[in-house]
Amino acid sequence: MAYWRKAAFGAAVGVALVVAGGAAFAQADAIKARKDGFQVFRTSMGAIKKVVDSNGPAADAVAPAQAIAAQAAKQVAHFVPGSDKGDTKAKPEIWANMADFTTKMKAAETAAMTLASAAQAGNIDGIKAGFGALGGTCGACHKPYRND
Ligand code: HEC
Repeated sequence: MAYWRKAAFGAAVGVALVVAGGAAFAQADAIKARKDGFQVFRTSMGAIKKVVDSNGPAADAVAPAQAIAAQAAKQVAHFVPGSDKGDTKAKPEIWANMADFTTKMKAAETAAMTLASAAQAGNIDGIKAGFGALGGTCGACHKPYRND
């Protein structure tokens, strides 16, 4: 191989490695981003549970419910192709059933918005019902799509 060809080949391999490395990095980033997002779910659910357990104040449930709705709207984008590998509990079934996975995330978003409305209206019974409904959407997705 002529020198210039070897150099071109080497450069091409270098570019390929950088691209592949970039993809793995993007996947690790996506896994971290979605875990951070689920932590927002977790702490927000904790804040809402406090309101449920102490019968109020309803206003304290508004921001955490809105935080879950806003985060839910962003979560599916972090399930990029190939990110079933790595430091993750996401099951490969997610990518085989992306439409269903997206529907289940939408259910969490909708339930969080319903809860936020009840909280804004000062409706404690609505918050309690909403908390149960929202919690149900977590389990409905974890069961098929998350490894324990
Ligand atoms: C549409 C699917 C879906 C819904 C809805 C969902 N989760 Fe998850 N959750 C997952 C998946 C998948 C993982 C695993 C993510 C990973 O390890 O990459 C996960 C992981 C988590 C984690 C662990 C995050 C970490 O740091 O490793 C927590 C906490 C969590 N979810 C809380 C919740 C709560 C609370 C709700 C409901 C308000 C909820 N999730 C709703 C799919 C969902």
